[in-house]
Amino acid sequence: MIHFDPTTKIFNLVLATSTYAFYVDSEGRLLHLAWGARPADAASTAVLHGPGFESLPHFDQLPLTRRYELSTLGDGAMQEVSLAVGFPALSADLTSDEAPHLPVRDVRLRYLSHEIVSDHKVGPDPSSGSGCSAQPGLAPTHGQPGCVTTPRETLRVRLTDPTQPFEATLCYRLTPEHDIIERWCEVANTGPEPLTIEALAFATLHFPNGANELTSVSGWWAREFMVARERLPMGVRTIEQRAVQTGHCANPFFMLNRPGQAWEETGEVYFGALAYSGAWRIAFEQLFSLDVRAHAGYNPFDFSLTLAPGDSHTTPAIAIGVCPEGWGGASRRLHAFALERVLPCPADGPALRPVLYNSWEATYFNLSLEGQIALTHKAAAMGVELFCVDDGWFGGRRDDHAGLGDWTVSPDVFPGGLKPLIDEVHRLGMQFGLWVEPEMVNPDSDLYRAHPNWILHFPGRPRTEWRYQLMLDFGRREVVEHVYSVLENLLKDHAIDFIKWDMNRYATEPGSVAGQAIWRAHTAGVYEIMDRLREAFPRLQIESCASGGGRVDLGILARTDQVWTSDNTDALDRIRIQEGYSLAYPARAMEAWVTHRHNHQTGRILPLSLRFDVAMRGGLGIGANLNELEDAELAEYASYIAFYKRFRHVVQGGKLHRLQRLEEWGASVIEYVTADGREAVYSVVVFDHQLGWVRPPAPLRGLNSDATYTATDRHGAEVYRATGFDLMTVGIPGDASGGPSYSRTLHLKQV
Ligand code: DGJ
Repeated sequence: MIHFDPTTKIFNLVLATSTYAFYVDSEGRLLHLAWGARPADAASTAVLHGPGFESLPHFDQLPLTRRYELSTLGDGAMQEVSLAVGFPALSADLTSDEAPHLPVRDVRLRYLSHEIVSDHKVGPDPSSGSGCSAQPGLAPTHGQPGCVTTPRETLRVRLTDPTQPFEATLCYRLTPEHDIIERWCEVANTGPEPLTIEALAFATLHFPNGANELTSVSGWWAREFMVARERLPMGVRTIEQRAVQTGHCANPFFMLNRPGQAWEETGEVYFGALAYSGAWRIAFEQLFSLDVRAHAGYNPFDFSLTLAPGDSHTTPAIAIGVCPEGWGGASRRLHAFALERVLPCPADGPALRPVLYNSWEATYFNLSLEGQIALTHKAAAMGVELFCVDDGWFGGRRDDHAGLGDWTVSPDVFPGGLKPLIDEVHRLGMQFGLWVEPEMVNPDSDLYRAHPNWILHFPGRPRTEWRYQLMLDFGRREVVEHVYSVLENLLKDHAIDFIKWDMNRYATEPGSVAGQAIWRAHTAGVYEIMDRLREAFPRLQIESCASGGGRVDLGILARTDQVWTSDNTDALDRIRIQEGYSLAYPARAMEAWVTHRHNHQTGRILPLSLRFDVAMRGGLGIGANLNELEDAELAEYASYIAFYKRFRHVVQGGKLHRLQRLEEWGASVIEYVTADGREAVYSVVVFDHQLGWVRPPAPLRGLNSDATYTATDRHGAEVYRATGFDLMTVGIPGDASGGPSYSRTLHLKQV
């Protein structure tokens, strides 16, 4: 519910368990009032009245601590700001001897009007057709319809500068049932001269004083999503990526709470996640007063956005929320939001993610029709449903030195084309998937030889190659069109059900015909191509991969069905990676493979049970070389896959509870439970164990107390039977002395 009181000029955004409020002050500024969990006994229509708050000494008197809903350079600011604009021309009433002061870099946003609109009316193109047009992504009108399309309310507050020809509309779209607000803004040049935007966040966020414990993730290739919890310093702490993809170094989401006042399942936790896959930054700023605020949006590094007269720009969104159920409650809200409103809904409804086989670690670049066909037979026999051929099938791509850009089937590898393989995959009842890396080119490729200028570079300057490849300049319209038509033809000519869209380098010398706009144009191009492909091929599924988990965020999830979480497939390393991922993103989209006994990345030898128990926590995939396995082991694979299929609906659609975190217990215990509490999956993995350490069972959550549950193992054997009350109070005994690499998965069902 969106409530506006014309007397106090307070806006209340009322959600299931939280409230967000701001107001228009006596001078027209839009200032934050409060954001937090609603008192448990508050009526669903109760709002904040804020009697007399404007006269209280504190937050809105000093420019320093004034809590603008969008803070700007000028207007009294001396700290971090969300918006900086340069106006190159003098207004009519100023004399020319003021000219050396130009450009004017002071913008003051004052209330003009507001409207509340329903989804289908939001955005520049109300006819976009889905009835659910304000999706996360580059612009809120892009993306696919989510699985839930009931209209939502969006509040649009129009602000203008009193003298400069500039407007900003702050947008707030509510998903009340998950306590989520998407915020984005639209900026417009209403004057006769071009103007330059030098910094632009999607929103300024204000947290209660002292909410300065930050949870975020950082990492690198093979080590994505490492969780860190820290106290914010006084001043500014940024998390960011200077890239045209989301990046490995950090991921654009956060959680914040007052130290000592939030835990895994209790306490008030604030959270936010950007729906954007380009250069991003979230700057957290803590003032002397312990005011905590964040500026979340485009990375100001090398940023420039020119608006011609009459032009406007719509930013992507940030999804934000607060909940009283700890870090776990914050994760569950983000998961539900992603499942219902972000992930594209398959053309035939929300099907389960298929069990995938990917041949990368089995054959690397050593592809052949016979070799792949041999794998397809073994994969199908064990229950795989989607067979994906990875890198090396095209052009001169016999290793990573050549061929990127030449997306035609290599006759050296597949003399009769891909059709015989695709037909066989389909005959075996599986779907067919193919790897592509469309944003890249090897200098040793026909595409590069034909268009040496189509790459990011500065003329006359050296270019850095990374994995022997260069990045195409998506600032050029002809490049975006070329990439689209190459992929379109590939999909028209072949019965491809799934593409793994990879991206294996960072932009270094970002020279483009688009100038500094390339930081946004690249992501816009990727989004556009994916959106057009999905429209043209509504049954196509896409996996987002960028050297593992380098492109995971709500913007890419609006266009892809799943993400490759990490190239690191070592099950023990993977627990941490998956746990970090799980803070913000849903298990349904988290592709996780079982690979070789002797892991290719770490060399560690781990039992098959552990490898499956970890991979079954997400979308199960197989990446081992099936041709090297004995029949008995193939049968074990088949048995695990059959087990996974019995409960995957719980993993892919249920609620996640992190019952014991690795950092605290040396073991990771998680539970997925259906919304009605009738079914659950209980998964234990022990990483670290010392003699004498008796690990207590982890009480489960979300079950029905009075009901009785059976817990069965992979063989269908009942290993435990208890009431929901017992399970939620005591837990499932039996894991206490499990040593390192001990693991088990149980499927619980109400009887
Ligand atoms: C990086 C990906 O993360 C891998 O899974 C694989 O597809 C390789 N690229 C292929 O070059």
